[in-house]
Amino acid sequence: MSPGELYLQNNGLLLPKETHSFESLKFAQEFTFKDNDVLAVTFPKSGTIWMQEILPLVLNGGDLTPIETIPNWDRVPWLEEKRLALVVDQLPSPRALVTHFPYHVMPPSFHNSKAKAIYVMRNPKDVVVSSYYFSQMAGFLPDPGTFEEFVNDFLEGKVMFGKWTDHVKSWANTELGDRIMFLTYEDMVKDLPAALRRISDFLGRNLSEEVIEKIAEHCSFKSMKANKMSNFSLVPKVFMDSDRSPFLRKGVVGDWKNHFSPELLARFLSVIGKELETESFSLPWSLD
Ligand code: A3P
Repeated sequence: MSPGELYLQNNGLLLPKETHSFESLKFAQEFTFKDNDVLAVTFPKSGTIWMQEILPLVLNGGDLTPIETIPNWDRVPWLEEKRLALVVDQLPSPRALVTHFPYHVMPPSFHNSKAKAIYVMRNPKDVVVSSYYFSQMAGFLPDPGTFEEFVNDFLEGKVMFGKWTDHVKSWANTELGDRIMFLTYEDMVKDLPAALRRISDFLGRNLSEEVIEKIAEHCSFKSMKANKMSNFSLVPKVFMDSDRSPFLRKGVVGDWKNHFSPELLARFLSVIGKELETESFSLPWSLD
């Protein structure tokens, strides 16, 4: 199917019709945030489902029931997706949600609440690689073509949720103060217990080292890949075909080295660098 048939457009963003509708976007805009809600914010392929595993465990002190019994999309639903309306009343308190929305698309009640946000950022070179394989396995996304063609689409924002640079800029420049915490996928890969301690402190949880270690073990790539509530094996193959590429694919930092030619990399870095050059924030890693 063509991109026009697979995506709907909203606020200049392309959103998969399979999981989004104008009703779900209206529901998101009218959603009432509570002060104790926790929201993980990501550009797609930056660690969303990882946060869907982590947040319930940090919030409930390490009780594995939610990750063993509830699929991730219902456990920590996407603010913008159709499922939210169906499960919102069953979410435990405090509620955890995820979103791919850029900041300027967030609903008014988010701004008026004290809900906290955790922005997870991943190096865009690895985001585009992960996204390329995801587009091959997801039946609700257009065929990505060659890697180079897909990189061009990514740089032009012709992928779901638009340009990576716009997303990062929008969340880096908020006035949320101590309501927002920034975390990188790379830090989580390097030292998950340390990342969990930061998340726990940010959310005012006082987790023991034993609980932190338990959560880290159950949120490892290996554990999540084996967890049918988290690896998307419950989804029919026509929507997600893990024979083409598993959702939990490699879970590493630096797979971009296996995909970019020197020319393509130079162009990628030049476009991204230019789009960020006037920004006052600095990225947590060097782009090249
Ligand atoms: P790769 O395709 O590079 O393997 P999202 O959830 O935002 O769609 O991001 C998916 C990416 O996060 C995939 O990257 C996936 O493997 C990775 N990921 C998910 N859980 C992970 C974990 N526990 N450890 C490391 N990477 C993880």
